[in-house]
Amino acid sequence: MNNAQIRNPIPRAIVKPGPKGKFVRSGKVKDIYELDADHLLFKFTDRVSAFDVVLPTPIPRKGEALCKMGAYWFETLGVPNHMVRLEGADGMVVRRLKMIMVECIVRGYLYGSLFERLGKGEVTLPVQKVLASKLPAPYFDPTTKSEVHDEPLTEAQIVQQGLMSSKELQEVKASTIGVYEKMSDRAKGAGFILADLKLEFGKDPAGRILMADSIGPDEFRMWPLAAYSPGKTQESYDKQPVRDWLQSTGYKARLDAARKAGQPVPPPPELPKELVEEVSGRYVRVYESITGRRLSG
Ligand SMILES: Nc1ncnc2c1ncn2[C@@H]1O[C@H](COP(=O)(O)OP(=O)(O)O)[C@@H](O)[C@H]1O
Ligand SMILES: [Mg+2]
Repeated sequence: MNNAQIRNPIPRAIVKPGPKGKFVRSGKVKDIYELDADHLLFKFTDRVSAFDVVLPTPIPRKGEALCKMGAYWFETLGVPNHMVRLEGADGMVVRRLKMIMVECIVRGYLYGSLFERLGKGEVTLPVQKVLASKLPAPYFDPTTKSEVHDEPLTEAQIVQQGLMSSKELQEVKASTIGVYEKMSDRAKGAGFILADLKLEFGKDPAGRILMADSIGPDEFRMWPLAAYSPGKTQESYDKQPVRDWLQSTGYKARLDAARKAGQPVPPPPELPKELVEEVSGRYVRVYESITGRRLSG
């Protein structure tokens, strides 16, 4: 799900100075620091991206909402994971793992690249080709973990390529589907559909498999239940106003044209204040309605 090649550079002005430890890398959302040989610090920033472009305007409280949302899942899913503790409002200390180089995607709905692949006949599924329709059962749909373009992987390829043993694969697959089911139930209770989810796993020095990375809106699609209607594109609750605004101002069209022509990403515009407030409120509301917790600070 990463696409580093067509991503614009992170605007430097919104990379916070390092809290402590050695800076390792900036992802789309997280800044990662190495605390010691066994621990990393994930700083969840207020950066927002849309159409794979990181925008220059931060969304206040977004980092805090994502950090605490991830912590909520790690604390309550009952699956062994890498979280050690929270640090400050938007930091999470995690155990450093040897990552398993597979993106463990599970889908409850026919959407995104699975819909496209079904249309092209690249996968066979006993379903009608209706966009956003519910699949008969959660579908495990792993991909490579690439900086450039994630490619689908079959279970046989995962084992043949030595990414996991077949026993590890069965463990990770069952865990991924189990987590999807639990998260779907909680989302439903809060009025959302969890359409799909991407999890990552890693191994600790003893060889134990732990759930890792983060669990937030960049790792799943969540749709408001009230607006759900199969057969069309669904709104992604939190970022939709940003996408709509980029479309209405013509930026999206310029971006598409530049990408098509193989040109660099045009500089994205600053977001207006009201939009920033609306989006910030959405992140806070999703967090609070799903977790039943208040986002402090
Ligand atoms: N416990 C961990 N130990 C080592 N690496 C991890 C751990 N958890 C996640 N990672 C890796 O850290 C990186 C996070 O970077 P990235 O996904 O680019 O950030 P963002 O989600 O902000 O875009 C990923 O490559 C992920 O596999
Ligand atoms: Mg990521």
